Amino acid sequence: MKAEIEKQKEYIQQVKDINKNKKPKYIIQTFGCQLNENDSEKLSGMVEEMGYKRTEDAKEADLAIFNTCCVRENAEDKLFGKIGELKKVRETRGTIIAIGGCMMQEKHMTDKIQESYPYVDIIFGTHTLHKIPENIHKILEKRKKVKDVIDIDGEVYEGIPIKRENNIKASVTIMYGCNNFCSYCIVPYVRGRERSRHPKDILEEVEELAKGGYKEITLLGQNVNSYLVSENWKEAGKQYKGINSFATLLKEINKIQGIERIRFVSPHPKDFTDDVIEAIAESDKVCKLIHLPLQSGSTNMLKIMNRKYSKESYLELVTKMKSKIKNLTLSTDIIVGFAGETEEDFEDTLDIVRKVGFEQVYMFIYSIREGTPGAKMENQIPEEIKHKRFNRLKELVESQIEQNNKKYIGTIQKVLVEGISKNNEKMLTGRTDSNKVVIFEGNKQDINKIIQIKIVSEHMWYLKGEIEDVNR
Ligand code: SAH
Ligand code: SF4
Ligand code: F3S
Repeated sequence: MKAEIEKQKEYIQQVKDINKNKKPKYIIQTFGCQLNENDSEKLSGMVEEMGYKRTEDAKEADLAIFNTCCVRENAEDKLFGKIGELKKVRETRGTIIAIGGCMMQEKHMTDKIQESYPYVDIIFGTHTLHKIPENIHKILEKRKKVKDVIDIDGEVYEGIPIKRENNIKASVTIMYGCNNFCSYCIVPYVRGRERSRHPKDILEEVEELAKGGYKEITLLGQNVNSYLVSENWKEAGKQYKGINSFATLLKEINKIQGIERIRFVSPHPKDFTDDVIEAIAESDKVCKLIHLPLQSGSTNMLKIMNRKYSKESYLELVTKMKSKIKNLTLSTDIIVGFAGETEEDFEDTLDIVRKVGFEQVYMFIYSIREGTPGAKMENQIPEEIKHKRFNRLKELVESQIEQNNKKYIGTIQKVLVEGISKNNEKMLTGRTDSNKVVIFEGNKQDINKIIQIKIVSEHMWYLKGEIEDVNR
């Protein structure tokens, strides 16, 4: 793997030489989850080393990269509109168009692009992202189309340059892929099997971020708490700081000076073992907002979804977590209208939402994904019913959030100040431990600090606050 990255570094140099004196620009558009965003930071890192400068204006781009998602249908429509817009720019500027990411792992999608958008130069998949230097070099040298998609379990590459989007918060991918094959989900087919990074590489990356002034890190993986140190790393001499699980990794990261907040997404309830709960409770920097994807509140649906837990065991886990972790808040993902969902099943989902009282619920209408078991199920739910159920859930969630926001009023919250508010120049914006946005009047010097804010009012998607005197 090391040799492969070295080879790509040579291509980076060659492209840089070709680009000398040209001042080329690139645009990158990312669809999908935080893992994709982190991948895009790696793409940007490589591309910038090749001499490209970032632009947000497609009309002046010499290179346009799309990093795609295919978890639900709407992502596809958005992408096609964007590629269409670039056709004219390509005709005048000769823009190189590269499309990569999860959707490119689906054959029917790459076929469609090759047929309907023949001017696309590079198609790359999730397993060949690190080869973008080689593929851009090929285009610059030969101007021949490249399709570089492979279907493998997957590898772990270290040492890819990275250009981060934010200088306060950073994401660190700790594991790749998924072995769970939930029956509605396409991710395992496009991201390959689970594989974890070596703990030494993860800790070094976090230490580097701490040195660079980052205050908050988010550990990423399709199932972060399935993080496993592979057997051969445990051999004598290869063990690193006794890390052999997600819990031990968390505790070790918690020790890194400079980092003040640690988050992680997404854990799987089936792997939420006692040692993980304990590590969260003990580690002061680990935020006490935990994302715990539910998907459905019905044991029957959970079985069909292949989630490996029941309504009861999920609720038991929540009770246990609440009793062990002080100030715990929870967020979740829910799918409405999966094949076979009855009114009774849906009522179970509403019931669990009422019982748990989530801080935030990410709600999705089930979207059929070709190639998954769910797509073959016969008892699909009509769109109209799916939408009606979605709206009922949304209503419940919004009323709960409103109720929940009231609890913040009068409390003092530790807020990591992220910058100036987009809507009001005079105000600063930041987030609480529970990831709530807080807007308040403050001083620019407070940016990138954790300060105490007294919450004075609530507004559905944000809270308003005032600086507490203790900060001064
Ligand atoms: N690995 C994570 C999340 C992966 S995808 C987990 O297990 O929670 C993010 C979310 O998209 C999922 O949690 C699920 O709620 C939603 N999702 C996945 N496939 C979907 C589909 N076919 N239709 C609608 N929502 C889907
Ligand atoms: Fe998809 Fe399930 Fe894997 Fe999450 S755990 S990525 S929902 S298959
Ligand atoms: Fe989408 Fe791929 Fe993430 S399908 S949700 S970008 S892993």
